[in-house]
Amino acid sequence: MYYPDEVVDQVRTANDIVDVIGQSVQLKKSGRDYIGLCPFHNEKTPSFSVSRIKQMFYCFGCHKGGNVITFVEEYDHLSFTEAVEALAGRAGIRLPEQEYSPQERRSRDEKEALLNVNRIAGAYYYYMLRTPEGKSGMDYLTGRRLTDETMKNFGLGYAGKHSDALYRYLKQKGISDDLLRQSGLMNVDERRGTMYDKFWNRVIFPIMDVNNRVIGFGGRLMGDGRPKYLNSPETKIFDKSRNLYALNAARRSRSGQLILSEGYMDVISMHQAGFTNAVASLGTALTQQHCALMKRYTDSVILSYDSDNAGVSAAMRAIPMLRSAGITPRILNLEPYKDPDEFIKALGKEAFQERLDKAENAFLFEVRITQRDYNLQDPDSRTQFFREVAGRIAVFELEMERQNYIDAVAREYMIDPRQLKELVLKALVLGGTSAGRTGTAYGGYTGSSPLQGSPAERTAVPGSRSGSAREQGEAAARKLLINYLVQYPGIYETVRRYLSADDYGDGVAGKTAALVYSQLDASGEVDAAAVLSRFEDLEDQQEAAQILHTSESTASAAESRKAILETLRRVYQAAPLRAGEGQDALSAAIQKKKNLESIRKINLILE
Ligand code: UTP
Ligand code: MN
Repeated sequence: MYYPDEVVDQVRTANDIVDVIGQSVQLKKSGRDYIGLCPFHNEKTPSFSVSRIKQMFYCFGCHKGGNVITFVEEYDHLSFTEAVEALAGRAGIRLPEQEYSPQERRSRDEKEALLNVNRIAGAYYYYMLRTPEGKSGMDYLTGRRLTDETMKNFGLGYAGKHSDALYRYLKQKGISDDLLRQSGLMNVDERRGTMYDKFWNRVIFPIMDVNNRVIGFGGRLMGDGRPKYLNSPETKIFDKSRNLYALNAARRSRSGQLILSEGYMDVISMHQAGFTNAVASLGTALTQQHCALMKRYTDSVILSYDSDNAGVSAAMRAIPMLRSAGITPRILNLEPYKDPDEFIKALGKEAFQERLDKAENAFLFEVRITQRDYNLQDPDSRTQFFREVAGRIAVFELEMERQNYIDAVAREYMIDPRQLKELVLKALVLGGTSAGRTGTAYGGYTGSSPLQGSPAERTAVPGSRSGSAREQGEAAARKLLINYLVQYPGIYETVRRYLSADDYGDGVAGKTAALVYSQLDASGEVDAAAVLSRFEDLEDQQEAAQILHTSESTASAAESRKAILETLRRVYQAAPLRAGEGQDALSAAIQKKKNLESIRKINLILE
């Protein structure tokens, strides 16, 4: 669903940001603005500021910021469209109906119909578990120490011993064979053209999407046998690579991290023990889409895979994927138990919490596992091992991160950190290894500034996200200048004589500049919140908010004037040379030099 800009603006302006945020965050008036404790990171002294005048929020601690829509997206974990819809509801605004093409309408109706079938089937299984016929299912689940409340929370059910019970029930509800075929709930005998239930004689785990809609089912045999678990096949509404079990509940946990495990029962045990931030993939390997989905809710994931070999290799595959989504993974060690369910049963929740607190840094886990393939007593093998480790260290972006890992590994294996550092530098020059994040967007900057080039290029400037120190500085100056335009709209007359909106580069800064310029052209003022709602991607909004936020300046007018002109000079200097009509490059360059000089002499009026 896509709403036109005017509609988005109408919804935004109808919801005062101080009122909306004030409902979830305690705000205190401070000067022109309001301050409070940031809801997006842990803090004891308030650095979260909300401006009624600018209709923006900004946290000086974690740098999250945006307008009222951004806030609702972030705070309630909604998409842009969902946030607009929520705010429209709050303000009593009726949103326009989406115009669907006939194709889109058909597909939407099909999905609705499938969701409806699942809803009916889920209710049927749920009911069956609580009848005398469901006794074996109930006994099984109670035997696994699930409480009634837990069974209810997860909507657990039971499929009886007759392999056509659900089929007959759904037919009686008027569901067509065609829809049943698409639902994944039936096995179809193509030759005879008959259908029978896919799930029978199993306890049933309904699988819900984040909006609590049943999109599929898992069924477990009560006892031993094969296959132990049976899952719905993928359907028009069930995409295993884009959904995680129990995320609908875990998204509401405010623990700040997610626990990712492999099994339905693991998740349920953890939730029952109070760890309501646990989720699981759906009987398939972790995908990049799963990681992006988790990143909507957290930057920190604790991997809780089985402690067997399969679990360890699954973790080794998951770590780089999580990292490249901007998530910091840690690894839970539950030995000597196989999975969270068994651990909690044996040692209880306090012991589980202790293990969570002690979860291992993913990098050190990787090194430990890698080491198994090498014989450290053998000189060649030993060198190979440290080369491999150095390659893995080289992909870290920050010099400080690399140094910390060099120190940690050197300590662990009792080697000279300087020798390891030398290997890391070599790996950097050679372009590092392909382990991990090479070539992928990183650290939340997925929207606008994907990292490019080899690790060596990227790490040429410690701490840089891309490009040389000079380019970094220029990019920062462009952003700062946009910020000055918001703060002192009066300088626009001057600034635009030197710089057009195109001179602010591509990406978020460039787009922000274009929007700010057109607002200044139209009204002489900047409506920062309106600029922000032109960015649909949350990461982009965040970056734009960093550019646009302002605080009450403590600098004197003279200091500000000087700073602005310095910034203007810097941006102009870096801007591409533009030859005027009938002008050659050389005279354009000479002209530019003169203009640069003239900037120093400008007498800026700041109001
Ligand atoms: P496990 O075999 O580790 O089982 O499968 P578990 O989670 O410990 O289950 P319990 O405790 O014996 O009940 C982990 C996950 O792999 C998928 C399921 O999603 C399961 O939760 N799986 C496993 C299947 O899809 N099919 C199977 O036959 C087995
Ligand atoms: Mn288990």
